[in-house]
Amino acid sequence: MLPKRRRVRAESPRRAVASSAPARFPGVAIYLAEPRMGRSRRAFLTSLARSKGFRILDTYSSEVTHVVMEQTSAKEAICWQKDMGAHLPGCPQPILLDISWFTESMAAGQPVPEEVRHRLEVAEPKKEPQSSVTMPTYACQRPTALTHHNVILSEALETLAEAAGFEGNEGRLLSFYRAASVLKSLPCPVTSLSQLQGLPHFGEHSSRVIQELLEHGACEEVERVRCSERHQTMKLFTQIFGVGVKTANRWYQEGLRTLDELREQPQRLTQQQKAGLQYYQDLSTPVGRADAEALQQLVEAAVRQTLPGATVTLTGGFRRGKSQGHDVDFLITHPEEGQEVGLLPKVMRHLQSQGLVLYHQHHRSHLDSTHLLRQNYTMDAFERSFCILCLPQPPHAALGGTLHPCPTWKAVRVDLVVTPNSQFPFALLGWTGSQLFERELRRFSRQEKGLWLNSHGLFDPEQKTFFHATSEEDIFRLLGLKYLPPEQRNA
Ligand code: UTP
Ligand code: MN
Repeated sequence: MLPKRRRVRAESPRRAVASSAPARFPGVAIYLAEPRMGRSRRAFLTSLARSKGFRILDTYSSEVTHVVMEQTSAKEAICWQKDMGAHLPGCPQPILLDISWFTESMAAGQPVPEEVRHRLEVAEPKKEPQSSVTMPTYACQRPTALTHHNVILSEALETLAEAAGFEGNEGRLLSFYRAASVLKSLPCPVTSLSQLQGLPHFGEHSSRVIQELLEHGACEEVERVRCSERHQTMKLFTQIFGVGVKTANRWYQEGLRTLDELREQPQRLTQQQKAGLQYYQDLSTPVGRADAEALQQLVEAAVRQTLPGATVTLTGGFRRGKSQGHDVDFLITHPEEGQEVGLLPKVMRHLQSQGLVLYHQHHRSHLDSTHLLRQNYTMDAFERSFCILCLPQPPHAALGGTLHPCPTWKAVRVDLVVTPNSQFPFALLGWTGSQLFERELRRFSRQEKGLWLNSHGLFDPEQKTFFHATSEEDIFRLLGLKYLPPEQRNA
């Protein structure tokens, strides 16, 4: 939306500043080369530059001092110049520049110095600011910290990834998530499109989005998606516990738009979805770290009572250092393999007897060798409970003085997963995430090592053998990867 309005504004001065009007920078006469740029974008950039007092020539002539090209390699640029030079024999050659010089000049309000990174005439690989940074293709090959330098850019790509997911387009979803993840692992902010050169996963579409954000501060496509009824409704519905993309889409197609409309049709809802709607408000509020730690104490107490020696490990986003999450994920195991069998129903009964369970759905372990062997099996087969727990809230000093009484409890989504000790390192690695990190790790194992990895184990399909691991470090080592601690897995 925003770029459109800006476009209108940028276009109006065109009438005021004709191509022959005196330019503010007499030594600079720019020619925007159309191939790759496209006619309408060229017209837009022409008006923009003229409105800032730059001299833009409509035709290529001996007066041109700067040729600006977009998404064009040095090799292509030189070919183009040779062709054009044939029309103007004997004239001094203008400088061939990447669009980054142009956008930086527009931002500066004056021509910026033509640096090596802007120039297209060097046929050897150009020295880009990023070229010293080697960016491996798989997210599991590079550290990704929780905080990074490109939040606005990565969030825009993630919006498009999410939208692709809502349309069931898995390939597109992955492309955008992978590109967003590359931005998260860069050591500095992206300020010019040229910095994307040589980075993996930046196709034409993702690059265009970044270009628009750099030039206009907003991307029309992303804004359109974010504002659309479709996107907002799909987000609303898929945020309900127990509702996936397929269900949300069906409801949307049937014309449903609000939570109240869903509540009016309880016959269509599963027990899980009913609970999701009942506690929607609490469950859509992020869970803080203090809540996660309080829950860990409750779960640990219940586990200790049931089976001394069993351990409870906080996984998911909190293990990666996040201060908030949409749920809390715990892994339960016992050092003596086999002791963990039958543990979970007892733990749940214990929590229930304390009035802490608002909803729970128990999944029995359906562990047999076929699960370990299915390379594309994404859901694991551990015994688990998807629950909504009731977390008592301490009296809140900050709320004191308001007319509303402090809430005494809060509903929180909790996943309890039980693993045999021998699979614990794989389960820990699998449940720590991030989700993209896990997908990339599995893809790396399969494509680069010919091994199948999941939350149960690592399998060599040729030898038909499983690898033994006693720690996450072991698994990274088996895969030939540098170990990344959980805080560096925020891909
Ligand atoms: P989450 O969906 O809980 O994500 O899954 P998260 O990273 O903790 O983020 P928030 O803060 O809660 O939103 C945690 C990890 O567990 C794996 C996912 O792949 C992710 O890496 N997981 C989740 C499974 O392996 N199986 C599942 O059924 C669910
Ligand atoms: Mn989580």
